[in-house]
Amino acid sequence: MIIAVDGPTASGKGTVARNLAEHYGLKRLDTGSLYRAVGLAVLDAGGDPADVRAAVAAAEALDLDAIDENRIRSSAAGLAASKVAVIPEVREVLRRAQKAFAADPRGAVLDGRDIGTVICPDADVKLFVTASLEERTRRRLAELRARGEQISFEELQAQIAERDERDMTRKDSPLYQAADAHLLDTTVLSIEAAAAAAYAIVDRVMAARS
Ligand code: CDP
Repeated sequence: MIIAVDGPTASGKGTVARNLAEHYGLKRLDTGSLYRAVGLAVLDAGGDPADVRAAVAAAEALDLDAIDENRIRSSAAGLAASKVAVIPEVREVLRRAQKAFAADPRGAVLDGRDIGTVICPDADVKLFVTASLEERTRRRLAELRARGEQISFEELQAQIAERDERDMTRKDSPLYQAADAHLLDTTVLSIEAAAAAAYAIVDRVMAARS
């Protein structure tokens, strides 16, 4: 079973994907972490994430097993990720790694922006996870403050809106809800309630197919 989970920044898609993977015993790929790792590598080298050559070189050198899970969570890495993500050559390099992961016959959960539309268009179940901009800003603010990052609500909200805009308007693989994706709005849902709603969708889709 392949489950595709897409949605905007801090919508809760990562948490939903993690819970789905555990619940159904599937492995999971957080595809945003690949873009974050590429963006961070460019920043670490003193480069500009919008520089095509630097970003492509970082994507080609990426070692999936050596990603620093802590450092890629900074807001700077997130912003750099959304800049390298507009570059088609970067997406092409990362697309190969994602498709290889999804080709595992044991199945998988992948979460990102273009999983149901480009990476796994034939996924068994597609979820589009969303939440209001205010709620997403609150969640990301709590995460960043827990990491010790100082940023105001207003500044972060503007940053998230900027990333939403860039993700939804880029030419290559923009973020949008696939026609056959199930919408899951987590604005007023707890982590447990969002997970339960996701299991209900998956169970319903799989039951209808069998
Ligand atoms: O954690 P958050 O939702 O803020 O972002 P993420 O999922 O870690 O992704 C970081 C950035 O990578 C996004 O803003 C997208 O620009 C890009 N991305 C993408 O283009 N395609 C994906 N499948 C996953 C992420």
